[in-house]
Amino acid sequence: MSEANYFLGIETTCDETAAAVFDRSGTILASVVASQSAIHAPFGGVVPEVASREHMRQLLPVIDRTLAQASLKPSQLSAVVVAHTPGLVGAILVGLTAAKAFAATLRIPLIGINHVHAHLYACQMTRQESVFPSVGLVVSGGHTNLFWCESANQYQLIGCTIDDAAGEAFDKVSAILKLGYPGGPNIERAAKAGNSKAYQFPRSKIHEDNFDFSFSGLKTAVLYAVHGPNQKTSDRTLTEHEVADLSASFQQAVIDVIIAKCKRAIKHYRPKHMCVGGGVVANSALRSALLELGKKTRCDVVVPPMSMCTDNAAMAAIGISKFEAGQFDPLDLDAISGLIRYTS
Ligand code: KG4
Ligand code: ZN
Repeated sequence: MSEANYFLGIETTCDETAAAVFDRSGTILASVVASQSAIHAPFGGVVPEVASREHMRQLLPVIDRTLAQASLKPSQLSAVVVAHTPGLVGAILVGLTAAKAFAATLRIPLIGINHVHAHLYACQMTRQESVFPSVGLVVSGGHTNLFWCESANQYQLIGCTIDDAAGEAFDKVSAILKLGYPGGPNIERAAKAGNSKAYQFPRSKIHEDNFDFSFSGLKTAVLYAVHGPNQKTSDRTLTEHEVADLSASFQQAVIDVIIAKCKRAIKHYRPKHMCVGGGVVANSALRSALLELGKKTRCDVVVPPMSMCTDNAAMAAIGISKFEAGQFDPLDLDAISGLIRYTS
């Protein structure tokens, strides 16, 4: 075993407590994810303070399990890579503080990474050849962003949601339809039996000449379709058939907008590749639509396996190049909530 070979990745930006060990070549030796979904489910969404406390409870056992799976001792680590932005600041602080403790006690470098960029780098981890330059799409519970990715280390934000993220819209609509949390998988399941043309929901910003998104109006449209504009029929129970049609129509509206904006970005940048990531990419209808778009535009759309789309620490391998370049962070590195806003 040579030195400077093993890296510990830590991810706590939202409601997944995750750790991974990878080597200098990016090979993953172990990756453990402890989801908090069941804990947040009764609240219908992620409760930031609950997430922080759960990270505190879970993180060290998760790291222990990860090191055990990789058959490594902490003393064999060469650096610790941690997502320090963007996300829930209290949740990030738990992972970042643990990372600093490892760095300080083991006297190894601390490397901070951007969680959203890491989602796109996950695509590189599924391929031998470079997937850069590329257009990048990240659609999750907290983000709906389009990037121009010049290289594995250069990500230029070209558009984002001006209100709700796509995953947030799935979660809120799921609450309206009483399908529970997390909403995405439940809506997807219900949509399978529905007619996507049953309701004409808005496709906000679809014709605007930019790369921005808006899903708040769509969510309100579903609310009105269920309860009426004055919420007069709020005690009405929806039939299974209605829930299926509402789910399918909503899901299609989200997909149409995402595909239209990706198409616009591909037309504008003419990239060879498009990288996609984030929990919403677990949606099979969206995955198919993205691959179809790739075929039509002759762009190589890289859709990672589900486990690399949702939050994980393996994608912290994006930090390896910072290590190689000697770009280490100080022990007072900040946790930055950093909600990405792009103004065109
Ligand atoms: O990336 P992620 O695991 O966590 C962050 O938000 O960073 O994404 C979680 C989001 C949730 O809003 C969830 O409803 C959505 O991804 N999601 C889905 C599906 N699976 C998860 N949305 C649509 N269809 C799915 N199958
Ligand atoms: Zn994420």
